[in-house]
Amino acid sequence: MRKLDINSKGHLCFGGADTVELAEKYGTPLYVVDEKQIIGRCREIKECFLDKYDNANAVYASKALQTVDICRIVTEEGLGLDTVSGGEIYTAIKAGVDTAKIIFHGNNKTADEIRFAVENNVGRFVADNEYELHLIDGIAKEAGKTVRVQLRITPGVDSHTHQYISTGGIDSKFGISPVRSERNRIIKYAMDSESIELTGFHFHVGSQLQKNDSHLMALEIILRLIKEIRSELGFVPTELNLGGGFGVRYVDGEITVKLRDFTDPMMERINSFCKTEGISLPEVFIEPGRWISANAGITLYTVGSIKEIPEIKTYLAVDGGMPDNPRHILYQAEYEAVVANKASIPAGKEVSVVGKCCESGDVLIEKIGVADTVQSGDILCVFSTGAYNYSMASNYNRIPRPALVMVKDGKDRLSVRRETWEDMITREIL
Ligand code: LLP
Repeated sequence: MRKLDINSKGHLCFGGADTVELAEKYGTPLYVVDEKQIIGRCREIKECFLDKYDNANAVYASKALQTVDICRIVTEEGLGLDTVSGGEIYTAIKAGVDTAKIIFHGNNKTADEIRFAVENNVGRFVADNEYELHLIDGIAKEAGKTVRVQLRITPGVDSHTHQYISTGGIDSKFGISPVRSERNRIIKYAMDSESIELTGFHFHVGSQLQKNDSHLMALEIILRLIKEIRSELGFVPTELNLGGGFGVRYVDGEITVKLRDFTDPMMERINSFCKTEGISLPEVFIEPGRWISANAGITLYTVGSIKEIPEIKTYLAVDGGMPDNPRHILYQAEYEAVVANKASIPAGKEVSVVGKCCESGDVLIEKIGVADTVQSGDILCVFSTGAYNYSMASNYNRIPRPALVMVKDGKDRLSVRRETWEDMITREIL
């Protein structure tokens, strides 16, 4: 059961702020992010990973939730930034992030994006495939620079998660095949290039993982590969990137995993491997995204029409939906919600929370109990929307994207203003 923070008015509080007042002040739908929870997660990473191991490095996978504010907050807390596009790098630069702390990911970076990253001295590129490696090499050469590169390896491990967010299996668009002839050719190319400093390898097994077994299996495969490559090509990595994927609690039955349950056994294994092989410990990276931001965010909606179909179900429609949160329609993701202005009233009525789009699949929550006094005009709060909501939002049905408000110790401030109808046509040539 989720523990709720309810004030004397019976209103739900989040980050110390009254959510009903936030909805009144900024309108709905509204993303609300608790800065303190983001900072708390960053500090946990520092404590259980960065400070615990000499050779540890953590970057926030900013695709989960990227704004200038968030980039600034996580980097001030000592994390680097994982980016996957020129746009994400641009945002990070606007936030004043030291580009040396940026890792540039993606399976099909364009030449323009690579050029932008090279010009701005982005710290590391994760090359996803041979084509991209050659592209990075050529662009770095042209600029007269040497860039650091980690090669992404497909470990061939199937993680227990939705197939759309599982990335480590052999049948994946991501990464270099671990098959000897192919990987050796690619690694050799990187080793021989004067514009590339090959530092090591990267893997990412999937997202929203509740158990560490896929990470540990993938690590074994990468360590075996390191051993083989050392004897075949004489290459010893100075960096090893273990990716992200650490799961969080959305609903009962799930947990926000303890990061150390993943990092401790992996670090132990890396240490013992290096000892046995007689090689120095590489710098070890992790890339948590969801784990940092998901639970730190909520979305507030206003309840509109309530349609009761006797003996079938009650549809509770809100003023947002799949444009601000496409995760149910994409991954059948589950969420919890509460009527924010009736937060202390027990959940006596079962409803389906749906959005306002012209689409039957526009569902936010298939089935949830809410206050039986729920009525149009109430404020509904959906929990744990801090990751892959704002960052995946669209204008489907020409619905403007919500505003994003940061809260901290009861104080609120607008971080991203609400999109307007006018914003949506600004790029159109009239
Ligand atoms: N590193 C790499 C290389 C990744 O591809 C990802 C996520 C991460 C780190 C961060 O994963 P996280 O710690 O957030 O699980 N839109 C989907 C999730 C896609 C994840 C893509 N890659 C969702 O809403 O569930």
